[in-house]
Amino acid sequence: MRHLLDNGDLIVTCGRGAADVCAAELKELGFAPRAVEDTAWSVRGTILDAMRLNLHLRTAQRVLLPMVSVPARTPDELHRSLVAEPWEHVLFPDGYFSITTGVDMPGIRDPRFAALKVKDAIADRMVRACGRRPDSGGERDRAVLHLHWHDSRATVLLDTSGEPLSRRGYRLQSGPAPMQEALAAACVLATPWRGESAFVNPMCGSGTLAIEAALVATNRAPGLLRTNFGFMHVKGRHEQEWKRIRREAEKIARPLAAGCRIVATDINPRAIDAARANAERAGVAESIAFDVCDFAATRVPPPPGVVMLNPEYGERLGDASKLESEYRRIGDFLKQKCVGYMGYVFTANLPLAKRIGLHSKRRMILYNANLEGRLLEFELYSGTRNPGDGKDPRP
Ligand SMILES: C[S@@+](CC[C@H](N)C(=O)[O-])C[C@H]1O[C@@H](n2cnc3c(N)ncnc32)[C@H](O)[C@@H]1O
Repeated sequence: MRHLLDNGDLIVTCGRGAADVCAAELKELGFAPRAVEDTAWSVRGTILDAMRLNLHLRTAQRVLLPMVSVPARTPDELHRSLVAEPWEHVLFPDGYFSITTGVDMPGIRDPRFAALKVKDAIADRMVRACGRRPDSGGERDRAVLHLHWHDSRATVLLDTSGEPLSRRGYRLQSGPAPMQEALAAACVLATPWRGESAFVNPMCGSGTLAIEAALVATNRAPGLLRTNFGFMHVKGRHEQEWKRIRREAEKIARPLAAGCRIVATDINPRAIDAARANAERAGVAESIAFDVCDFAATRVPPPPGVVMLNPEYGERLGDASKLESEYRRIGDFLKQKCVGYMGYVFTANLPLAKRIGLHSKRRMILYNANLEGRLLEFELYSGTRNPGDGKDPRP
């Protein structure tokens, strides 16, 4: 079994479509990511690096540390191989653990069966080594182990994140169809904006985009908002190191730049109440100007800047035919009130997006949970762009 302080692979997973943005984050943190799957990167590091990644990554879901890899052609062989591993070096006998799975083995139709085999093997080993076994179940707020069982090989990875990193902890109130926090961060980081100019978020709902933008602009690590991670529930918890890594992250946080204004509006006063409460919990309420208004009445600061909307898209909310005129109005708003901005619309409904009536310069596929969406990018020049005018309206 790998020691947690051994340098080795760490697997960083992210939502579908967010891999490039996640890789850019990893590089900025000094890692050299290698692609494992379209939603996973591998980097080299120890548990201490995993802790730093959990603290800083905005677009990732989980940071996994592979611990053992054993041959396992059958469930019995899986049990035999895993019961031989010293789980007592990692788990507390009076603790709690849960098993998540990624299984692709002939004959194993129910991954819960594989999870049960792993749980039994670990429990048997712990009883043998310590005289008692930790509790286990489906909660992911303590030690979490992930079984990856493919091609007759089983790898057990420590999920150092526990709850997915997308759950920052600030969003206790949400309206209908909220964006996952990591997706909102991916939308922000997909733009060139890093807090030096305006960020305008009409139709803000529970405020996720504006809050993630404020965290980026103030260089605040999103993990500072969380008090619980999977790595805190295994032996060798390295509390001192964690305090040091947090202190370093706190030191690099900065106030909003002079030219930065973050504006979030919604027509629904309850959405704005929720967004404001969420922003307070995230520690960025001071950085965001909230307003209740129709999106078209949003007070847009002078350019440059980014304007980003996540309108309803008819799949879960609203009615597509009613929404057609809203999308047309979004096009008018972008053309008339956001000149000199970079415009972005995140939607899962492409026929509706056509009603915006602007040519998108870039389209990025991103998933909100299992729903495929597009982040459309529009350059909002005034009138016809004169390619020779030398002005770059981007922030
Ligand atoms: C899909 S939700 C946005 C979700 C948001 N991204 C979040 O993470 O919570 C769309 C939001 O648009 C708002 N909305 C709908 N029509 C509007 C309008 N005409 N003007 C302003 N906001 C509007 C709704 O109240 C809703 O909060």
